Amino acid sequence: MQKLIFGNWKMNLSAADAVTLAQAASKLSIDAGLLRVAVFPSFTALAGVSASLKGSSVALGAQDCFWENTGAFTGEVSPTQLKELNCTHVLVGHSERRQSMNETDEMVNRKLRSALSAGLTPVMCVGETDNDRRSGQWSNVIARQVAKGLADVKVSGNQEIVIAYEPVWAIGSGRACVPENAREAHALVRNAVIELFAPAVAQKNFRIIYGGSVDEKNIASYLALEGIDGALVGGASQRAASFAGLIEAVQK
Ligand code: 13P
Repeated sequence: MQKLIFGNWKMNLSAADAVTLAQAASKLSIDAGLLRVAVFPSFTALAGVSASLKGSSVALGAQDCFWENTGAFTGEVSPTQLKELNCTHVLVGHSERRQSMNETDEMVNRKLRSALSAGLTPVMCVGETDNDRRSGQWSNVIARQVAKGLADVKVSGNQEIVIAYEPVWAIGSGRACVPENAREAHALVRNAVIELFAPAVAQKNFRIIYGGSVDEKNIASYLALEGIDGALVGGASQRAASFAGLIEAVQK
């Protein structure tokens, strides 16, 4: 099955630098049967990056969206506005938003449902903090985030939902999760999805990927594991050389 490599550029790169990086990404040789590559620049860079990716096999995503499509919501960006710029994917509930912007599971759920009905693939991020892991609560936290994030979600046809397991302590820390522990967490996420949807739907319409200090050296060790469908990469996706290294490491 096709593996996913998603690059979250976070609030980094000027619009011009994002276009330069997207142009480099668009020239990479990607076996689209094996890999789906998508990049998630800042809103300000979406239009430029969208133009640079035209005709390439790299897809475009945004880092967040609002749950309404139009209206008096100053500063928000809607799923339909993202579609206009050829976005096909959108992150929801990244831990940086849950922590700094106080996004709740309920808000994440509204964003996910809205993205899905607009025809975008939502990439819902879940994951425990260091404290959750130390206190033995990590599995409950993940199961809760999955269950609440997917509440009242209906999936049909080829609609797709990606869940990114990103332990908060592994993000940007250089402390990547031990692959076996990531595999265990992925199985837990998969089971939480199966609690809500028929097993066939969980299998066909859901992909589960790992994020947190993934780089070109360790990416293959995650993607080799049963149940890990790809990676959501921050830092290593933000430089042309390491981005190319990620793709190369996986296609080897
Ligand atoms: P890093 O790869 O920089 O740890 O970031 C992971 C992440 O938050 C991706 O969404």
